[in-house]
Amino acid sequence: MGKSVLVLMGSPRKGGNSDCLSDAFMRGAREAGHATEKVYLKDRKINACLGCFICQSREGLCVQKDDMSELYEKMKAADAIVFASPVYFYTWNAQTKTVIDRTIAVEASLANKAFYLLSAGQAPEEKYMTAMIDCFRKYIGCFRVGGNREGGYVFGYGANKSGDVLGTPAMEQAYEMGKGV
Ligand SMILES: Cc1cc2nc3c(=O)[nH]c(=O)nc-3n(C[C@H](O)[C@H](O)[C@H](O)COP(=O)(O)O)c2cc1C
Repeated sequence: MGKSVLVLMGSPRKGGNSDCLSDAFMRGAREAGHATEKVYLKDRKINACLGCFICQSREGLCVQKDDMSELYEKMKAADAIVFASPVYFYTWNAQTKTVIDRTIAVEASLANKAFYLLSAGQAPEEKYMTAMIDCFRKYIGCFRVGGNREGGYVFGYGANKSGDVLGTPAMEQAYEMGKGV
């Protein structure tokens, strides 16, 4: 049976490098029979986590009324959750981190997901991306329920202008990763 793939596109640049990688990933996933949806975080009103921990005494219900309510439902329904984020100062960008922080509300209930990371940066190779990879892996490890796993990550290296990633191996890697969801 086809799976459900949710791409959270965190770059402020529509058509930018993370977005191109998202499209390749989604094309692969669709060809493999999966359903895909992409959400542009820049178009959503998502506030920063208040750190109040009230969600933890309300079965994961956040006190904030914003577009994160809809994203919680989409994340719960998805089999695969893809963070598409540019590298900003060695890690994911603010739009992506804001969503990630807000998932503390579902830390005890989000289960059986495969998490993926699609990213692009100006740096030429993986050794400059280790902080982001570490954050990604440790984030997955924070969920307190079973079945969550790392699906994989792809970086477009040496990518700065929108579209620099096109024609690079990262596009094929993203496509193949999408096929393998
Ligand atoms: C605020 C800011 C910080 C950045 N920091 C890094 C960095 O630490 N490492 C890197 O490789 N590229 C860095 N870059 C470059 C972006 O990652 C690069 O332009 C990327 O292709 C943007 O992806 P996008 O097209 O998906 O937005 C930075 C760019 C900005 C705007």
